[in-house]
Amino acid sequence: MKTILEIPIHKIQKSRLAETDFDNLVFGKSISDHMFIADYKNGEWTDLRIEPYRPLELAPANATLHYGQSIFEGMKAYKNEAGEILLFRADANQKRLNASAVRMCIPELPEEIFMEGLKTLLDLDRDWIPNNPGYSLYIRPFIFATDDYLGVRPSETYKFMIFTCPVGHYYSKPVNVKVEEKFSRAAEGGTGFAKAAGNYAGSLYPALLAQKQGYDQLLWTDAKTHENIEESGTMNVMFMINDTLITAPTNTGTILKGITRDSVLHLAKEMGYVVEERFLKVNELEAALQNGTLQEAFGTGTAATIAHIAKINVKGEDYILPEKPGYALSHQVLKKLDDIKYGREADKRGWITKV
Ligand code: COI
Repeated sequence: MKTILEIPIHKIQKSRLAETDFDNLVFGKSISDHMFIADYKNGEWTDLRIEPYRPLELAPANATLHYGQSIFEGMKAYKNEAGEILLFRADANQKRLNASAVRMCIPELPEEIFMEGLKTLLDLDRDWIPNNPGYSLYIRPFIFATDDYLGVRPSETYKFMIFTCPVGHYYSKPVNVKVEEKFSRAAEGGTGFAKAAGNYAGSLYPALLAQKQGYDQLLWTDAKTHENIEESGTMNVMFMINDTLITAPTNTGTILKGITRDSVLHLAKEMGYVVEERFLKVNELEAALQNGTLQEAFGTGTAATIAHIAKINVKGEDYILPEKPGYALSHQVLKKLDDIKYGREADKRGWITKV
């Protein structure tokens, strides 16, 4: 594979491929052999390299550990029938990483370092991309502060890294969710739109309380009124009510601009569905569940892909959603997305990069 950048490769001595059980993959547990690294120092991204995946050495005063300057992305690579590597909407991930970087006072990463580092890593670890249907290689690019300094200010040094893991489904069955009425994930003017590590840390406690009550995830509501549905943990969320697909808009700065979200909206419009990007009121959701106009609800995300919702708790009341019929939008769109990602359908939208 040709690259325009100098990326020295230090290969692993003994691959862990043979000891990886590709039939029983747990999300994020099996990590591929190598990782890509670039360092930011003296005002530039430098020292690009690929090394065997291994633990890092960090100073106890490492700025990320204390003040959380850390952002990440989630993306996937697939293999087509000819064994070629297909990357889905990598350009969108690269742009979103930099949007997160700006908000978190992290220096932006040049596009060519992201793309060339990624392609070189995928080419090297191509045997880690699963062949079986429904499986893929999850890719985790991330940037974190590396200053060894306790003063509160943006770090002057950072690491950009990418590692990958072969994965199956994030959710193995339809999920049960609960509308959150007390805690908030994001507030206007905050960091909700950024893929910042701290957003996930802050969501863990409320999610844990819901999990103790038997729910898989929360449906977050807005911080001011708790009247509007925003997104779910690990995914954006969509509702089909009266044949209209409704999902939260991304212009308040509180919603993650999901790339799967955007792809689903694009495909739903192509298929002729009416799409509304607006906040669904909790009361509206409750009424639609009570009067049977809610046809389906699902989460969208890179890891989650399309996660069907089986049960929603609103104001303490559980509502069971209709069994997902084969003609439901979520099923059509999941099939369509898979056909595009695995190269079974021609890439007429410019979403696929071949490595
Ligand atoms: C993704 O879907 O890629 C995510 O980042 C969600 C999650 C696993 C944290």
